[in-house]
Amino acid sequence: MNTVTGFTFGVMLILISFPACYAQLRNGFYTDICKINVEETVQRIVFERNQKDSTLVAALVRMQFHDCFVEGCDASLLLKGDDTEKTAGPNGSVRGYELIDEIKTELEQKCPDKVSCADIIVMATRDTVAFSRGRRYEVETGRRDGSISRASDAIANLPSPSISVFDSIEVFKAKGLNATDMVLLLGGHTIGKASCGNFESRLYSSPPDSSMDRSLAEKLKMICPKKTEGSNAGQADLDQNSASTNIVDNSFYQQIRMNRGLLSIDQKIAFDMLTAELVKTLSNDNVQFFTRFGAAMVKLGAVGVKVGNEGEIRKDCKFVNNPAAASSSTTPTTTQPSIPGMLP
Ligand code: HEM
Repeated sequence: MNTVTGFTFGVMLILISFPACYAQLRNGFYTDICKINVEETVQRIVFERNQKDSTLVAALVRMQFHDCFVEGCDASLLLKGDDTEKTAGPNGSVRGYELIDEIKTELEQKCPDKVSCADIIVMATRDTVAFSRGRRYEVETGRRDGSISRASDAIANLPSPSISVFDSIEVFKAKGLNATDMVLLLGGHTIGKASCGNFESRLYSSPPDSSMDRSLAEKLKMICPKKTEGSNAGQADLDQNSASTNIVDNSFYQQIRMNRGLLSIDQKIAFDMLTAELVKTLSNDNVQFFTRFGAAMVKLGAVGVKVGNEGEIRKDCKFVNNPAAASSSTTPTTTQPSIPGMLP
């Protein structure tokens, strides 16, 4: 190759690779793309809804987790259809879909075809955390929406509440998140509820689960009486500090250090040698929790994102733009969980 050809080749290489480098998440992605202020629009709608429903924060924080862990943060969780992610057992109690639709409808009117459903989930979650006494963190935007949504992928990627700390760390590692991120993100259990079916085995095991505070166990038995068949409809707070329900703070870590964790995995991180030190630190320092939880949510929001020319900007968060083209990719697969402790 002579010098001129070599130079031309080099320039072409730079040009080819430029869109890939440029196409990444960044703060304020929509500033020059829409005439309206997209982040303010999302914030206003979330504020109105949050005033009426203080449980919204739990719904959205969980929605972001369940979206990002399956096919990346690409709003695949929102897709409607037979055997899509939202039909999978672990997503059965995921809430908040109407809010995302409401935001999307307004944004489509004011800035059509530009704002992804995946970004709306992340922005709305950030805002509801801030309105629930958490600290506001800056989010990056520029995600694109995916078209693959399979129930089997949700089952294979979402951990079961009885998972061990070691296996859970492996699950998070597979998403590019480390054990510290895992402990910080499990702080999401400072809000919201779990239904009896997700913790009642801890109440009636033989011998009794000694890692649960006895008075808490007695209280929970009233909510989830022993049944010979079927499951209980009852629910209990994930953060057992009753003064802190739906408030984003570090009291979850304080509770689990007093053996008052509801889910098995929540309780396990309190004293496992891999996580105990960080749990202790966070339980003693609310300010540190605020800052680090926000940073961990930003990191969660970057998992497996589609950017640049990948994916699409859906017009309706519930449907891909061209169902015929996408139908072959939403066909359920037979993927099975490979890590012990994952939901069957
Ligand atoms: C090992 C990881 C995790 C497991 C096994 C797990 C499991 C669960 C389970 C079983 C529930 C109760 C669902 C129900 O009964 O309806 C729940 C609720 C919840 N989870 Fe997780 N979770 C994990 C990680 C996370 C993460 C990383 C976040 C957020 C960053 C999160 C946020 C939430 C929230 C906010 C709720 C309450 C939802 C509501 O009240 O609507 N979880 N989780």
